[in-house]
Amino acid sequence: MGVVGLLNLLLTAVVVLLCLATPAVTRLVGSWMNLGLQGYEVWRNPQIYLIGAQPLCTQIAGLSPGQTKLCQLYQDHMGSVGRGAKTGIHECQWQFRHRRWNCSTVDDSTVFGPVLQIPSREAAFAHAIASAGVVNSVSRACRDGQLSTCGCSPARRPKDLNKEWIWGGCGDNVEYGYKFTQGFVDVREREKNYKRGSPKQGRQLMNLHNNEAGRRAVIRRTRVNCKCHGVSGSCSLITCWQQLAPFREVGDLLKDKYDGATEVKINRRGKLQVKHPQFNVPTAEDLVYLDESPDYCRRNNTVGSLGTQDRICNKSSQGMDGCGLLCCGRGYNSQKVKLHERCHCKFHWCCYVECKTCTRIVDLHTCK
Ligand SMILES: *[C@@H]1O[C@H](CO)[C@@H](O)[C@H](O)[C@H]1NC(C)=O
Ligand SMILES: *[C@@H]1O[C@H](CO)[C@@H](O)[C@H](O)[C@H]1NC(C)=O
Ligand SMILES: *[C@@H]1O[C@H](CO)[C@@H](O)[C@H](O)[C@H]1NC(C)=O
Repeated sequence: MGVVGLLNLLLTAVVVLLCLATPAVTRLVGSWMNLGLQGYEVWRNPQIYLIGAQPLCTQIAGLSPGQTKLCQLYQDHMGSVGRGAKTGIHECQWQFRHRRWNCSTVDDSTVFGPVLQIPSREAAFAHAIASAGVVNSVSRACRDGQLSTCGCSPARRPKDLNKEWIWGGCGDNVEYGYKFTQGFVDVREREKNYKRGSPKQGRQLMNLHNNEAGRRAVIRRTRVNCKCHGVSGSCSLITCWQQLAPFREVGDLLKDKYDGATEVKINRRGKLQVKHPQFNVPTAEDLVYLDESPDYCRRNNTVGSLGTQDRICNKSSQGMDGCGLLCCGRGYNSQKVKLHERCHCKFHWCCYVECKTCTRIVDLHTCK
């Protein structure tokens, strides 16, 4: 046996030993929110994915059996579901952009990686905002006539609307968006029967509660919008309809709910109950969580925490984005970077804008 053969043998031995030494890794379950990443591409370019001639819905990792079935039944809804999940994920990243956990996604069907398998406050927020995103996009798609099974909102005229104003026009169909999302997002939690009072059942109830809180946040922020008609803006006619709020407002509301989230536990009767009795019982609009968050300061591959090393921090801020808190007291590195910006812009008649490029040197601080 030559040197190469010996090396191969040794390597094989090492690999076998390594395999024996690693404890069985629990396979992570994919998330339906993958519709907002992979699924989004599938629905944008169905031609590419149809080549395999497998039905589209079975090609998206992360859907539960019930969700795959609903996907097949409501194929025309899936673009909206994907867009909704994506909107939710982006809003999550905006709301948490200055925090230790910043809602970053990973490149697989779990979407957020192992860290959200922990039933934490952050997991609560992620479920709520994704569910809200879907209500939002499906309600709007109904109004825009993109879905075969719904149209304008059936909402009744609000009692306190000015008598002279007309309740008309085509409103966002939040009623349908709510119902559809409830069916689609919650089905994966409802299709499994866990032992009553077990941690798995706890997680199931936690997800259901937070999904609902997300949907309700959209409803809570939905409003009545009115428009003037009439010759040259005389406003002789006013029509009103139901309209979704900009999604940022839903994100802000859920962020408040995140800050005030309630820690709960699963009891032997298989119900969630408040862990510390001095706190109020959460309503259906509040977020709930079962476990404390992991340490987001340091990288820990076991729990999936990325840590905050190399994150940009604000030296003069005392808040979460400040170098003190974001870097968890480890300190920070500073460097000077050149920024190129458009400046001294002049408007030329007619019609273009001419700018110069200015260079500015700024201090950039990143966590150690
Ligand atoms: C990672 O987190 C787990 C669970 O909190 C902890 O037991 C472990 O010590 C951590 N590992 C490192 C390297 O910090
Ligand atoms: C979020 O944090 C991770 C890990 O620290 C970092 O790689 C990523 O760039 C951050 N994302 C944003 C949008 O700041
Ligand atoms: C840094 O924080 C200070 C104080 O909170 C704030 O006034 C400033 O705008 C922040 N700078 C950046 C770049 O966000």
